[in-house]
Amino acid sequence: MKATMTVSADQAVGTISRHIYGHFAEHLGRCIYEGIWVGEDSPIPNTRGIRNDVVDALRGLNIPVLRWPGGCFADEYHWKDGVGPREQRKRMVNTHWGGVVENNHFGTHEFFDLCELLGAEPYICGNVGSGTVQEMQEWVEYMTFDGESPMANWRRENGREKPWKLKYFGVGNENWGCGGNMRAEYYADEYRRYQTYVRNYGKNRIYKIAGGANVDDYHWTETLMRLAGPMMDGLSLHNYTVPGGFEVKRPALGFDEAEWFETMKLALHMDELIKRHSAIMDQYDPQKRIGLIIDEWGNWFQVEPGTNPGFLYQQNSMRDALVAGLHFHIFHRHCDRVHMANIAQTVNVLQAMILTEGEKMLLTPTYHVFEMFKVHQDAEALALHLETEEYRMGEDTIPQVSGSASKRADGTIDISLCNVHPHQQADVTLRLRGLGEAKKVAGRILTHTDMNAHNTFDQPETVKPQDFDGFTDVNEGSLSVKLPPMSVVVLSFS
Ligand code: AHR
Repeated sequence: MKATMTVSADQAVGTISRHIYGHFAEHLGRCIYEGIWVGEDSPIPNTRGIRNDVVDALRGLNIPVLRWPGGCFADEYHWKDGVGPREQRKRMVNTHWGGVVENNHFGTHEFFDLCELLGAEPYICGNVGSGTVQEMQEWVEYMTFDGESPMANWRRENGREKPWKLKYFGVGNENWGCGGNMRAEYYADEYRRYQTYVRNYGKNRIYKIAGGANVDDYHWTETLMRLAGPMMDGLSLHNYTVPGGFEVKRPALGFDEAEWFETMKLALHMDELIKRHSAIMDQYDPQKRIGLIIDEWGNWFQVEPGTNPGFLYQQNSMRDALVAGLHFHIFHRHCDRVHMANIAQTVNVLQAMILTEGEKMLLTPTYHVFEMFKVHQDAEALALHLETEEYRMGEDTIPQVSGSASKRADGTIDISLCNVHPHQQADVTLRLRGLGEAKKVAGRILTHTDMNAHNTFDQPETVKPQDFDGFTDVNEGSLSVKLPPMSVVVLSFS
């Protein structure tokens, strides 16, 4: 099977915001508790209660931004319960996610501590569904006000003298569903009201994100843009890749080629969603000031057998790796409008980077794609033209190869490629226009011969990146690359 990709190394078409490589960590299952927070008294090595092994691993991804505390949890979260002496914090029921007790030991201070340890910018999602305007206003005051005020003084009493820097703030989550079952028109008015009190204190400038559409709810996007566009900086979009649909869902492992194909096809649907939501946004915001913030995306499978269905704990295989690669290529292509994306979720939930079991930890194939692709963060997206044969399943087809190219500030050019075919190698002719003088090429690959390949606590390195040399020298700006079946490759020209 053959493909040709032509990259114009001297033609930038936009900037790939590093925020496209953002994350999402919710009070859901074992994401925050166990996965990130173990408490100061835990035998698991930690820094002020936050696990060191997970932080060290996540630091390898250069996480630019971290969304918290939900998700559906956000619209039930009352931030005041999560500050002050930990033993005195209120215990609540996490009704959405397993009905377990939430002891509020991980709250605002702990979240900012985590962000500082990771070097990530915080993105906080406020409570519109069951919270008040006053509560939201006071949270922003607590976090960002430097002067004399009840909330700023309370922050100081709780051990933090200086305000934190907070840029990204979400005004509710999924307000068409778990965030209040609102109609678009009603939420647009609520958004206008709540955001009024999300204030800029001192030099802090907040980038306000309105709760956006579910999948292809274009009416939601149109209504929000029409009624509240000038009052927002970003509008979110949620879309999960759910083979079989939410009613059925399929296992994360033990799938066959039909499910592999279905998953890839669903992942590629993100392209159409972005195009259509963006086209609506263009009508009201042709300058593309407002970012499309895809703050929940990723694979959603059945939970692992024997685990709490409300914890959304799923394994992660080569299939997840390819889905991550396809999404990034789509996000890069739309980097003029997609200003941020946050995979769901960072640890132990849905398409996670990391799985933990007690003191053990493993890196998933998805982690490795984030690590390999981090070279694209804040790089200039380069113009490219890709012609590829199709991967056929019965009457259905999808493109076999997908790719993206970018240029770093130091001039290095990175080209990422995915071959989604589970049996066929792809022979790619790569033409690089305007490459300049001869470049040194280095390659890395993530691949496996088994589509179900994944990492376990006993065998944590079954799927991991390797050096890749399946390409020829550059000759007159051209080279041939042999992509094995089911592979994700990054080539760097420096
Ligand atoms: O990521 C899991 C859940 O999916 C989030 O809480 C919610 O926003 C979405 O429906």
